[in-house]
Amino acid sequence: MSVSLTWYGHAALGLDINGIKVAVDPFLSGNPAATIKPEQVQADYILITHGHGDHVGDAVAIAKRTGAKVISVNEIAVWFQKQGVEAHGQHLGGGHQHAFGYLKLTLALHGSGLPDGSYGGNPCGLLITTKNGEKFYLAGDTGLFGDMRLIGEEGLDLAVLPIGDNYTMGPDDALRAVKLLGPKHVIPIHYDTWDVIAQDPQAWAKRVRAETATEPHVLKPGESFSL
Ligand code: NI
Ligand code: MN
Repeated sequence: MSVSLTWYGHAALGLDINGIKVAVDPFLSGNPAATIKPEQVQADYILITHGHGDHVGDAVAIAKRTGAKVISVNEIAVWFQKQGVEAHGQHLGGGHQHAFGYLKLTLALHGSGLPDGSYGGNPCGLLITTKNGEKFYLAGDTGLFGDMRLIGEEGLDLAVLPIGDNYTMGPDDALRAVKLLGPKHVIPIHYDTWDVIAQDPQAWAKRVRAETATEPHVLKPGESFSL
């Protein structure tokens, strides 16, 4: 039980990996589903999947308060450095060993303009392998793509997928994603924040159970899942 993941609503996650705190896409101010205030977030690292405001969120303020290191694609890392924040840039297909584990950035089909209009490069997903060998994939905002099969070949304990539709995969394509990825567990996110991405996660979980060997876990904002 070395990995615990808490969903703070929308795409904001808090990971605890062997005691190291990793915040992912900490959009809390202005997030109607948020269950935690930015001032309450503990972070040693902050991972950013892409430049959109509902993912960069409160990351600058949290990084400045906690001293957390931001990790993202290089364009976004440089943007954070310009805000006075320590940041580590990687890029798609590239992995690096951090204190919490080995992080590889993966393909994501989406956009990535930053809140001030700066160019954010390509969006990414996050593939993390802990020192104990747990492997989990946080897809970020993305449409379905066939190379999810390659990510699945790595042997996933957990996948965290958007199901909201409109901006990302909807429930049908997210179910196809589960089939390509074949994770042991899956958690749906990026839905119900606003009416345009309202979904029925329990109905989706039922389909996952019926059609795959993957165990779905529908969290309420604020709830946690442990590997
Ligand atoms: Ni986005
Ligand atoms: Mn988004």
